Amino acid sequence: MPRLGEGAPAGAGEDSDVRAAYRACKRIVREAHSAEYALLHLMPPPIQPACWALYAAFHTADGLIDTTEGTPAQRSEHLAAWTAALRTEADHGHSGDPVRRALVDTVRRWGIDLDDLDESLSSIAADADGTAPATWQDWRARVKSQNTGWVGQFLRLLERCGVRFPVDLGQLAAVSGFLDGLYLTDTLADLADDVNRGTLTLPTEVLDRFPGAGSDLSARHFSPNVQALVAHLLQRARQSLTDGHDELRHHLHPGADILLQALVAYFRARLDVAEESGPAILQRPCEPDRLTRWRIMAPARSKAFLLWRLVPLRTPPAAGPRAGVPPQRNPGPQQPSATVTVPAVPVPAHPSGARPPAIDHDRLPHHVAIIMDGNGRWATSRGLPRTAGHTLGARAVRDMAMGALEIGLPHLSLYTFSTENWHRSTDEVFHIFRVLGDELEDGWILRHDIRLRWIGDAQRVPCDLAAKLRDQEAATRHRTGLTLNLCLDYGGRTELARAGSAIARAARAGDLTHGDMSERDFARYLPYPDMPDVDLLWRTGGEQRLSNLLPWHVSYAELHFTTGLWPQMDRRDLWQVISDHTHRHRRYGSAPSPDAPPAASTKTAITQRVT
Ligand code: FPP
Repeated sequence: MPRLGEGAPAGAGEDSDVRAAYRACKRIVREAHSAEYALLHLMPPPIQPACWALYAAFHTADGLIDTTEGTPAQRSEHLAAWTAALRTEADHGHSGDPVRRALVDTVRRWGIDLDDLDESLSSIAADADGTAPATWQDWRARVKSQNTGWVGQFLRLLERCGVRFPVDLGQLAAVSGFLDGLYLTDTLADLADDVNRGTLTLPTEVLDRFPGAGSDLSARHFSPNVQALVAHLLQRARQSLTDGHDELRHHLHPGADILLQALVAYFRARLDVAEESGPAILQRPCEPDRLTRWRIMAPARSKAFLLWRLVPLRTPPAAGPRAGVPPQRNPGPQQPSATVTVPAVPVPAHPSGARPPAIDHDRLPHHVAIIMDGNGRWATSRGLPRTAGHTLGARAVRDMAMGALEIGLPHLSLYTFSTENWHRSTDEVFHIFRVLGDELEDGWILRHDIRLRWIGDAQRVPCDLAAKLRDQEAATRHRTGLTLNLCLDYGGRTELARAGSAIARAARAGDLTHGDMSERDFARYLPYPDMPDVDLLWRTGGEQRLSNLLPWHVSYAELHFTTGLWPQMDRRDLWQVISDHTHRHRRYGSAPSPDAPPAASTKTAITQRVT
């Protein structure tokens, strides 16, 4: 398969300057980061040029800051100018600078979103003054903000060429632990260089733990304290690599796993060299010798070569329009999705012509969660298969979302499929997935001011559905209208148990410096820390249960149970339930105030629409 940057004939939009730009990026990566260059060879061939472009851009941005030339302010300015030029050029599709030229092509060709790199670029710029982070937690936050955006783009490229991940790796705590391990290994392997240039950024917390180690390091004196510090860091780096790697493995495509194994083996080899170096760690970089590297890379390369030939991969699409364009009606599963920011169509009114009620903005709930119950009963009571109820139920979902947009509801969570729903017949389960897939395929979410989020376990959800959800999540993540949370393969207790595991890992990594954890601290370990509490939980179908939905967030929710079956519901019912809710008085444990509404209004309601 001819590849960009490797003498491939120029097709439409693939002019010779683009090929030259990719070749320049390839050269930069090969010369400045030969190990990473070897690792990028394990990527699927269609995305290798894009990987060179991304890596060369990262190298360039980092290099503008990681230098002794100029003042910190000047270095920051250089990077800001580089970034601004990249932004403008991405809009126009051209650049005179080879690295940016290749990156602009990658952005357009593969649907990469430059916004994803913003945080990283500004965090790299903020590093110009070389201040050391105070604690491991600060260090970790810095590593995360500088690197996650780039790692995310490599993962996105893999997804774009058809290598799907069953989970959102960005949400997986193991990824961040693993990044720590990589970054700390890098710090140890390059200790000599960083000490020489005065750019070493270890947390002061760890330097304080080994008194005198900081000044001994600067004097390049391998004192007992420096030795103890290095041993401590080596152990920490090994632990982070192992923890992150063990958890990550479960989630990976076999091709990505080959890459991960080679990466881990190589970084462990770097740690081995650092460990064996003794005082020499302060004199020269710790890189494995050629034979060790060959032993790691050669088998990985043959395996990757074979595997990528067996797996169907997408070839680079032609460079598309810039990110931020309005969505098409049906973007289709094969299209890389650009971020969509412009809602293209107005919210359609309800067919009855009903208009939203006037709801006092201050009393509008912030977050409504719905347990959409009764699809099956609605269908069987009409002699129809249960699946017919889900088809109609999906139509109700769409109308509810329109109703939520009309009244300006900020968050709507829908219990779409629980972890217990797997006990249903295969036909029913896959029908629900198909119906949801069809709704996504239709593109109505993209056409309106909706930010889609998927909450739940992605491992068992069919890959094509997971891919559609991920694509639309990515495409809509900057939207500010309605946040629509789909709880799919969701279990509330599992979510809490995962948060608990993540907290235990953070504690082991030394990131939780005090034993007490506030509710706010805890929420940081939930899938979406910014998700507000549920104010109103509505369940249709007459049952009065919470069924393991968002246990953390519903703690203070007002409960509304109604008897109508979900397929019979539409936005007017949502408005009714919300209007009822606005008349309730929420006390959060306080005593009733004299001017509060009567106590009866705080009771669970069984209501039906009055229209
Ligand atoms: C519960 O009713 C409903 C579900 C488990 C599935 C809900 C799924 C949809 C409405 C489709 C989702 C589509 C989008 C766009 C989010 P039930 O089958 O348990 O009803 P029953 O209690 O009468 O058996």
